Amino acid sequence: MTDPLHAELLDLAREAALRAGELLRDGRPADLAVAATKSSPIDVVTEMDIAAEKLITTMIAERRPEDGFLGEEGAATEGSSGIRWVIDPLDGTVNYLYGLPTWAVSIAAEQDGETVVGAVVAPMRGEAYHAVRGGGARATGAWEGERDLSCRPSPPLDQALVSTGFNYVTEVRAHQADVARRLIPLLRDIRRGGSAAIDLCDVAAGRLDGYYERGLHPWDFAAGDLIAREAGALTGGRPGDGPSRELTVAASPGVFEPLRRLLEDLGAWHDGTP
Ligand code: IPD
Ligand code: CA
Ligand code: CA
Ligand code: CA
Repeated sequence: MTDPLHAELLDLAREAALRAGELLRDGRPADLAVAATKSSPIDVVTEMDIAAEKLITTMIAERRPEDGFLGEEGAATEGSSGIRWVIDPLDGTVNYLYGLPTWAVSIAAEQDGETVVGAVVAPMRGEAYHAVRGGGARATGAWEGERDLSCRPSPPLDQALVSTGFNYVTEVRAHQADVARRLIPLLRDIRRGGSAAIDLCDVAAGRLDGYYERGLHPWDFAAGDLIAREAGALTGGRPGDGPSRELTVAASPGVFEPLRRLLEDLGAWHDGTP
C-alpha cells in the first residue's frame, strides 16, 4: 500500500506537471526567442522555461509551504518538512524552441534526500508517466487508459537501441561525440531525442533498450530515474554509483552492465579535458 504522504506528493507532482505542460503547449509564442544563454552560447533558456517553473513552484508552495525546491531555472530553497521538489520545468528546450515535439515537464519529490515520487508529462506525445517508490511505474496516454510500464526484454548489446545526449559545453560535447562514434558499431543504433526525461521514460516504456549521458543535472534525471527503476530497468553511473552528473545509465537488466562496462572502457564519464 502506498504511503499516504507519497500518494499526496504524487497527485501534486502529476497535477503541477500537467498544468505546466498545458501552459507550455498552449502558451508558446509564435515568435518564441532565446531569452538568455547559460553555460555556453548553445545552452539556451526561453521565457517559457521560466514561466513554467514559476507556475510549478507557486502551485506546490501554496499547498505545501514547508517544502524545499531545486529547479533548473533558479528555485533553490531548503524547506523544513524533509521534502524537496526537484524540477525541470521544460526538458528539451532546444526542441521546444524549434517546434519539435520531444520535450517534457519533469517533477520529482525527494524525502530526506531519496526520490520517492516522479512525474513526467510529454504534452506533444499526449502522454504522462509517473512512479512512486516501491509502487511501480505507470503511464497515461491520449489514446489509451492508464497502463503499467515495464522495460524491454534484454537483447544482446549488438542488438540494443540506445539513446544518449550531448552536453552544452564544447569540450564535453567533443568527447561525447567521440564516445558515441566508437559505440555505434557495437549497438543496433543510437538515438538523440533531446530530452533526458523522455529518454528515461522510453527505457521504462520498453521503447529503448538503454540510455546514457554524461553531464546531466539532478532535475534532468530525478523523476525519470525513478520511473525507469520502477519499470524494472537498472540505473546507475560509475561503478558503485547511482546516476550522477558524471554518468547516468539506464537500461533493461541484461543490457545495463555490459553497456555500463563498455562506457567505462570508452571513458564516457571523463569530461573531455586533458
Ligand atoms: C537537456 C536535455 C537534453 C540533454 C541535455 C539537457 P534542457 O535539458 O535533457 O536531452 O542532452 O544534457 O541539459 O536544458 O533542455 O532542460
Ligand atoms: Ca536548460
Ligand atoms: Ca533538462
Ligand atoms: Ca530545462
